[in-house]
Amino acid sequence: MSTIRILEPTVANQIAAGEVVERPAAVIKELLENSLDAEARRVTVDFSRGGKAQMIVEDDGKGMTGDEALLSLERHATSKIQVASDLDRIATFGFRGEALPSIASVARFTMQTRPASAPSGTEIAINGGKLVHRRDHGMAPGTRIEVSNLFHPVPARLKFLKSDETEAAHIVRLVRLYAIAHPEVGFLLREDGREIFRSPGNAPLLDRVREIWGRQVAEEVTIMPSFARPGMRLSGLLGKPGVSRGTRQDLVTVVNGRPVDSRTMAFALTESYHTLIPKGRYPLAFVFLEMDPAWVDVNVHPAKREVRFRDEAKVRNFLIESVLAVLRARADDGLPAATIPSIALATPLASGVPPTVSAPVSSSGTPAAYLPPSAAPAQPNHAPAVRLGWRLLSRLREERAVFETPTGLAILDIGAAHQRVLYESILAQFTAQKPVCQPMLVPLSIELEPLPAAVLKERMPLLASAGFDFEEYGRNFWRIQALPAWLEPEDALAFVRDLLAEMARREGDFGRPSLAYDALAKIAVIKARRKGDSLSDAELMELVQALFRTVQPGSCPRGRRTYIEWTDADLTRRFG
Ligand SMILES: Nc1ncnc2c1ncn2[C@@H]1O[C@H](COP(=O)(O)OP(=O)(O)OP(=O)(O)O)[C@@H](O)[C@H]1O
Ligand SMILES: [Mg+2]
Repeated sequence: MSTIRILEPTVANQIAAGEVVERPAAVIKELLENSLDAEARRVTVDFSRGGKAQMIVEDDGKGMTGDEALLSLERHATSKIQVASDLDRIATFGFRGEALPSIASVARFTMQTRPASAPSGTEIAINGGKLVHRRDHGMAPGTRIEVSNLFHPVPARLKFLKSDETEAAHIVRLVRLYAIAHPEVGFLLREDGREIFRSPGNAPLLDRVREIWGRQVAEEVTIMPSFARPGMRLSGLLGKPGVSRGTRQDLVTVVNGRPVDSRTMAFALTESYHTLIPKGRYPLAFVFLEMDPAWVDVNVHPAKREVRFRDEAKVRNFLIESVLAVLRARADDGLPAATIPSIALATPLASGVPPTVSAPVSSSGTPAAYLPPSAAPAQPNHAPAVRLGWRLLSRLREERAVFETPTGLAILDIGAAHQRVLYESILAQFTAQKPVCQPMLVPLSIELEPLPAAVLKERMPLLASAGFDFEEYGRNFWRIQALPAWLEPEDALAFVRDLLAEMARREGDFGRPSLAYDALAKIAVIKARRKGDSLSDAELMELVQALFRTVQPGSCPRGRRTYIEWTDADLTRRFG
């Protein structure tokens, strides 16, 4: 029978390290956070062999005296919180007092540190948790920590490390995230002495993204002005409509300076883009949320990667409303607002599209306190935006058309543009509860299987509000006495069958009116017959004008781009 004993500190630290330090990037994360907590203005990160051989983080922050440095290596030694209630409002990255002793217990660890007030610094070396030496060390104020031979004291953990390339990729991503989250701090990242990125502090966010994420990403985003609600503020950069990614890799969310995984935020962002990017893909965004620390719980994950909000719904709604306001205002990205006077559409667009096409859809959703910073572009403008000055140059293989614009050259995808116009026209009718109907002189009749018949009965009010008039005249036999104006009578039977099948399959989507309308409009649009090749030039121009009256002219309801534009500057650059 074994006796119960208290573990030796080194063993206890190694166990704690299992949670804190899962891989080299986790070491860098802890060291970086300490540097930021120490109010560094400049941080340099070096690593080699994916961090397995060596990692160095050097800062110009507050530093520590020799005694503080020794104490910082004791478990639960922290300068950041004192009493349990401090946990309710954590404003620093660190609060456990676990990172340094954990790291020092599973590697060779050398810390050099000096506060500005001391004439010289201290060096402390530790190997596998055992003190090797402590001595004076001449240096500039700040702290430099070197970690090498990670996990050599605990070989079992070595085998869980991935290839050097994979571990390096984790490190690079992590440092990028912290550099974006802290634009006020200068960052330099090097692998084997080779610079990966360098970003001086205090650059505007867009420049920062260009330096850290690269030129291409910087061109794919648009500035989100500041939005405010009591106790919350939101700002950042948002991907332009139509720009999407297959993973969440470029969906960066920062809460109070901490890069976090927040399901609530990721979901709200993806939701806001749902008609602008294809299903199953993710938007590109750099979103900064600042809020009272008492409203966020960072103490829910051992590596503090996740946060929880005291009021998740409030955060979600704030995000969706703000992002939608930006997207609505910027969907027509890239073109000067001055070229967009509003003109009325005198005649209906193409056959089957009613004049309601130009009705602006509700502009609600702008957060009450909207604070554009002085540098931000004009206020979101929800007035129907009709872009003058597009001149048709030529058709391109029937489904596309080339235009000269006041600022360059554009190619329009006629089908996608038509779908956007049709979709918003149908939605506008739903929202206004005023469907434009066409009564049937000779009612159409349709026989339905029991399941679709049951769906039809259940969804009758919804279908009526969309402009359908069904009458049952026998078991499973129905008469269609009126159709919405956007549906061609010859397409009606096939459309109704498909619609009922869809409704049976996606029951949940049709339960709430707003979702049901959206789903219905999307199905209608997909089923709509292609109009591209049959449009006259005049109809094509009307389509363009109608497109720029929609709320989101940049993409079709399924997220495909409606047009691509090259500005004169783009063209000049391409010609070199
Ligand atoms: N780069 C640094 N500059 C100045 N002081 C530092 C630095 N790194 C660590 N310290 C000091 O050492 C203490 C211990 O650091 P450690 O990372 O172990 O714990 P913590 O940051 O308080 O909490 P956590 O375990 O959550 O990170 C810190 O509270 C801080 O006072
Ligand atoms: Mg720490």
